[in-house]
Amino acid sequence: MTVNTPAKNSRIPGLHKDDIATRLARVAAFADLDAATVSHLADMGNLDPQLADRLIENVVATMNIPIGIATNMKVDGEDVLIPMATEESSVVAAVCNAARQCYEHGGFTTSLSGSLMIAQVQLVGVPDPMHARMRILERKAEIKTLCDECDPMLVKLGGGLQDVEVRHIETAGGPMVITHLIVDTRDAMGANAVNSMAEKLAPHIEAWAGGRVYLRILSNLADRRLARARAVWTCEAIGGEHVRDGIISAYRFAAADPYRAATHNKGIMNGVSAVVLATGNDTRAVEAGAHAYAARKGWYSSLTDWEVTPDGNLAGTLEMPMAVGLVGGATKLHPTARACLKIIGATTAERLARVIAAVGLAQNFSALKALATTGIQKGHMSLHAQNIAMMAGATGDEIEQVAQAMVAQGAVRVDVAEAELARLRNRG
Ligand code: MEV
Repeated sequence: MTVNTPAKNSRIPGLHKDDIATRLARVAAFADLDAATVSHLADMGNLDPQLADRLIENVVATMNIPIGIATNMKVDGEDVLIPMATEESSVVAAVCNAARQCYEHGGFTTSLSGSLMIAQVQLVGVPDPMHARMRILERKAEIKTLCDECDPMLVKLGGGLQDVEVRHIETAGGPMVITHLIVDTRDAMGANAVNSMAEKLAPHIEAWAGGRVYLRILSNLADRRLARARAVWTCEAIGGEHVRDGIISAYRFAAADPYRAATHNKGIMNGVSAVVLATGNDTRAVEAGAHAYAARKGWYSSLTDWEVTPDGNLAGTLEMPMAVGLVGGATKLHPTARACLKIIGATTAERLARVIAAVGLAQNFSALKALATTGIQKGHMSLHAQNIAMMAGATGDEIEQVAQAMVAQGAVRVDVAEAELARLRNRG
């Protein structure tokens, strides 16, 4: 005999209108969550449920990620503590170590190319794209007025439309005329500002150029907002010329091979995204910009460069788009993000972007140094082993004891942790 259980139905009308507790109860019924899980999810920690409910849709819970503090950082002559939100062990330690090893040599020197964001307006079906391009460019003054009207506050703060570019591109669907609005967004990340401008301008572009506008949206390839960081590590501080040469060789590998470059840049983003997240900024925007920029030459490559200084030391540089802001969205509303900004002491988006670039460079240094010498697992293992010990059920003091036993055996696995835990408990 077969027993028919009712099929689960993901169509839950009106979920968005429920309060958080009701939503959670409905989800719990759907997913068969036990009471302990429901009460765990219902605890929203230090984020006000009402705020959470306004930040996104259909909220049922929050996700806590640890924030660790990177120490030893000196950026443009100023010491700074940097909160990093990450679930990955070794990421915070990597920045602390890299910063310690270049601290005496001056730490990190940074700059920003500007705070310009780009919005794109896509025009299709234009019979004379070259002339259409000119017709749009001739309206630059009008475009500026229309765009600046969208955000008088931004203009008052010294921002607003700075330039207009019009590109003619060939696509599988024929020619397109793409207008770029280049906007100084000052201390805002700027997505809302530039998207409003692009939307307002769209009917005018159609009227001037003919054809039909479809997309009106910012580009995450924020190559007018490049954050740059450089630092020098002396051979003495890093353990000798062979370490320097190993790091440079690792960099050359990434520069030449996209398979390696993806991992190399992922390491950079371990640091960058952790600070972007801690400050309530848009991690996906920065990540998209980073990877698009890494492929700007036509092949995907390293975001950093490593070379030998005239006096034989190791010089590292990082340059990448850094679309982060201090105003708007979670940055302003999320109390943890505000606290993290206060810890960093960044009072401008520029300072924040520059500090984040320094963190990215530090992260890359530590990853390459570990990879070129002892390997990544050694540093990773102690915290990783603790995670595995907890997965096996260890609590309190047991965690460290089980972790140490696994590291000593060179076998960090759940089955080994379970055996060690059983042994420990039998003994006690
Ligand atoms: C791990 O999260 C990051 C690394 O793989 C980065 C790298 O390989 O350069 C260690």
